[in-house]
Amino acid sequence: MCGIIGYVGFRNARTVSIDCLKRLEYRGYDSAGIGIFNEKIQVFKEVGYISNLEKHIPHIKGCIALAQTRWATHGKVTKINAHPHVSNNEKITIVHNGIIENFKELKQELISKGYEFKSETDSEVFAHLIQDCYKDNIKQAVYDAVQQVKGYYALVVLCADEPDVLIGARKDSPLVIGVGDNENFLASDIPAFLKYTNRVIYLNDGEICRLTSKSIEIFGNDNQPLKREQELISWDVSGAEKTGFPHFMLKEIYEQTDTVHQVIRGRISEIQREVMFPESIESIIKNGSNDIHIVACGTSYYAGLAGKYLIEQLTGKPVFVHLASEYRYYGNYNKNSLIIGVTQSGETLDTIAALKKAKHHGCKTLVVTNVIGSSATRIADGFILTQSGPEIGVAATKTFTAQVLVLLLIALKLGVFNKTIGADSLYQLIQSLKKLPRVVQHVLDQSDHIKKVAEQLVNAHSVFFIGRGINFPLSLEGALKLKEISYIHAEGFAAGELKHGPFALLTEDTPVVAIIGSDETYEKMVSNIGEVKARGPKVIAIAEENDETIKQFVDEVIPYPSNKGGLSCIPIIVIMQLLAYHVADLKECSIDKPRNLAKSVTVE
Ligand code: G6P
Repeated sequence: MCGIIGYVGFRNARTVSIDCLKRLEYRGYDSAGIGIFNEKIQVFKEVGYISNLEKHIPHIKGCIALAQTRWATHGKVTKINAHPHVSNNEKITIVHNGIIENFKELKQELISKGYEFKSETDSEVFAHLIQDCYKDNIKQAVYDAVQQVKGYYALVVLCADEPDVLIGARKDSPLVIGVGDNENFLASDIPAFLKYTNRVIYLNDGEICRLTSKSIEIFGNDNQPLKREQELISWDVSGAEKTGFPHFMLKEIYEQTDTVHQVIRGRISEIQREVMFPESIESIIKNGSNDIHIVACGTSYYAGLAGKYLIEQLTGKPVFVHLASEYRYYGNYNKNSLIIGVTQSGETLDTIAALKKAKHHGCKTLVVTNVIGSSATRIADGFILTQSGPEIGVAATKTFTAQVLVLLLIALKLGVFNKTIGADSLYQLIQSLKKLPRVVQHVLDQSDHIKKVAEQLVNAHSVFFIGRGINFPLSLEGALKLKEISYIHAEGFAAGELKHGPFALLTEDTPVVAIIGSDETYEKMVSNIGEVKARGPKVIAIAEENDETIKQFVDEVIPYPSNKGGLSCIPIIVIMQLLAYHVADLKECSIDKPRNLAKSVTVE
């Protein structure tokens, strides 16, 4: 939610900041703004995308700047509410990501001291509060100000009286330092500055940093200086570029042959017939649990649901999957449970809160995430990376696939520990895993056919997705993909549940996408499709390629390759992503930045 940037160095700060900010646009895109120092701090803001802001900023010089792309929480989407916010004496400029929970009290206090507020945002409090605390040292003023704030923040501050210094502060919202040569960066996320540097320093909660072009100082909760090593990021800068694809989402769908390879690389051994994680992770998986609770939001929640089917099937262990926003308040935390947080960004506020609570209750915690150094990796006892490279499209694709695969690997490891998986079954599954990149490629090669099928959904008002077994959570994810990027109402259902309510909504104008497993659910799915057809709608089946029978029951078939080890969930996922993509593309929707959404949700 909201992306923030700070730059201090030798380059044109306007150009660099806008460049970096564009790479954070997936975090919010209601409005954007920038503050650049050139004799004084000059602030420019616009409603809409960053490209709109860019058009309106004059070409001013200046080597220090701060900028923000906003996803509104407090106050409407207006130019006034856009960041940066400026103090009344026009010396302090701030950009903020987070929520100040006691902003009403602080605002009242500041108003009684004579400060005037221009916006409806909570963030503006920071500008006036820091002015109020400022004597002659901006770092000290930020420290004093944040002591009074309840809530969470990633904050970048520029003071006109110390125009070669940027201050950053964070608590429960992400902020990373990019370390350059004679230049330094602050950003909500690493891809923002990856083009300029791959050296990073992570800030922890409660810490403050003071950057100039040549120095980086970090201060702890107690305001005392800290030593912190920089780390090298192995992500390739092309990961954050479209590289010729019309959309990040399509590029990320196509990257999945590699995603699959990266997830299993070094984690399975055909020769030793083994699934391997570092010892510390294996010990969490082995010892940490009576039962397993998966907590997550959005697409990651659906990956968790798919993981439940895989883990329960392969290990017999009970798995409970929870929406983090509910579990953090209503969860039952038992210290003998293993809590697995699934989160692409590692920053989703509700998931982080649930993990913190789990730790507090003494549970073992494990995180499946794509972002090394993210808050989730710092909180949990251990983490497994999905190794998918940056994902920029707001709708998650390759990271969903990677999450499901990591959960499968956890299931296999646990199955071996618990002796619920025999050597032969394990070997067969490892074989199937190795074939997956080719299987995914096979699906990608069908993109034109999937596009033809997509044409039949473009004018639909509502689409049902149905499946049984693991194909039920896949239906939920397929429906979510379609609704978030094409704005067509879509719902996923367990096929057996249609008759308990959803049928009331089914008309002949409601296309149904039926995911058909070639397993024990097959016959039941065929019956469910019969029930659907009796009510008139068109049925699009996603079915195994050798299934000739299904053609007589449905209107269209999108085939997925046979894969003996039962890993058909992966090609099915890719088909549904392509289906949603093509529908949205045919409708000319804003695919990478769907309306009202953001990739990383760091508010409740
Ligand atoms: C947002 C994104 C979703 C994502 C969810 C959870 O809603 O738009 O694509 O699934 O957050 O994010 P996480 O980073 O925790 O996986």
